[in-house]
Amino acid sequence: MVAESSDSGFLLAIESSCDETAAAVIDRQRRVLSNVVASQFELHTRFGGVVPEMASRAHVQNILPVIDEAIRQAGIRLADLTAIAVATTPGLVGSLLIGLTAAKTLAWSLGVPLVAIDHLQAHIYACQLALWSQSGQAAGQKVQAESIYPCVGMVVSGGHSNLYACASPVDFELLGATTDDAAGEAFDKVAKVLDLGFPGGPAIEKCAKAGRADAFAFPRTFIHEERLDFSFSGLKTAVLYAAHGIQGAKVQPPPLDDARRADLAASFQAAVVDVLVAKAVQALKKTKYSSLCVGGGVAANQAFREKLEQVAQKRGFRLHVAPRELCTDNAAMGGLGWELVEKGRLAPLDLDVSPGLIRTAVPRKS
Ligand code: KG4
Ligand code: ZN
Repeated sequence: MVAESSDSGFLLAIESSCDETAAAVIDRQRRVLSNVVASQFELHTRFGGVVPEMASRAHVQNILPVIDEAIRQAGIRLADLTAIAVATTPGLVGSLLIGLTAAKTLAWSLGVPLVAIDHLQAHIYACQLALWSQSGQAAGQKVQAESIYPCVGMVVSGGHSNLYACASPVDFELLGATTDDAAGEAFDKVAKVLDLGFPGGPAIEKCAKAGRADAFAFPRTFIHEERLDFSFSGLKTAVLYAAHGIQGAKVQPPPLDDARRADLAASFQAAVVDVLVAKAVQALKKTKYSSLCVGGGVAANQAFREKLEQVAQKRGFRLHVAPRELCTDNAAMGGLGWELVEKGRLAPLDLDVSPGLIRTAVPRKS
């Protein structure tokens, strides 16, 4: 039995927006008591990408065991939960619905509040949890006043390359986004071009270690423009042509051996990193914020992390990059739910998902 007090409480966060089924328990002091992730990586590998219907079915199989395990590892009982948080946007509609159904059922049967998580803001909040964990959790203290907000929030994942002005964990404005492929999507597609397998990000990163980042002068789209949007499809095509040539062209590239593959991977990675870092700096200038927080799967990339560190030191802004284990999809970052609970921003039981299939690039002024 867990003792009740005004600052006690346990939030169960559920995440099923894409191909990871995840649940975590976070206490009111924002300590992550458990963080369970069932990856569907092996299921989708042979198709070279996520198959939505298969992802939904795997969520159905995994969701209850994952929730049970999160409760068990946290050392509590279901009845000890005081709130349920669930990612409802953006994501694959079938996948999101599985997490939402579980969350609603638990909230209703336990009689506790339900809150709706924006998965992208949760990726940014992972930086906040990590900061508190470093400063307060070790000493078992209550949440420190130290905040990453206001900040420029950057989410670079398989589905998004978004920049936000984040006034607080729950008040944010989109500054820019990708107009075509997301950064992680470009990593995945280029890995296919180079026969490196899926998911592409870690495979490209590994291959790039043996290559020269300046071997190919790949495009850095929009880098000198004021707009805070991204475009990676031209870069992806440039890598395709450099690797396999252009049909009918007189001059064709040499065969794709390991050395050439490594040079292509390193040059591609450098082009993505240059653009991401440049746009983040532009967003800091535009918002006049002095803190940059980066999350999402691509933030696990070492070359990207190192370049961010260098630029932060040179320009003197505060940098928070999510720890690697909280970069890719997880439910611990759904600790963001506490911010909603404490502000009274509760969701009704007829809450729906919002897959967000429309590209969200900020409209240009003519
Ligand atoms: O955040 P995430 O797990 O899922 C989405 O919300 O999309 O991000 C997955 C993406 C994939 O495209 C994967 O290739 C990329 O993050 N990724 C990486 C690395 N690790 C994962 N990209 C570059 N370098 C990495 N080390
Ligand atoms: Zn994600």
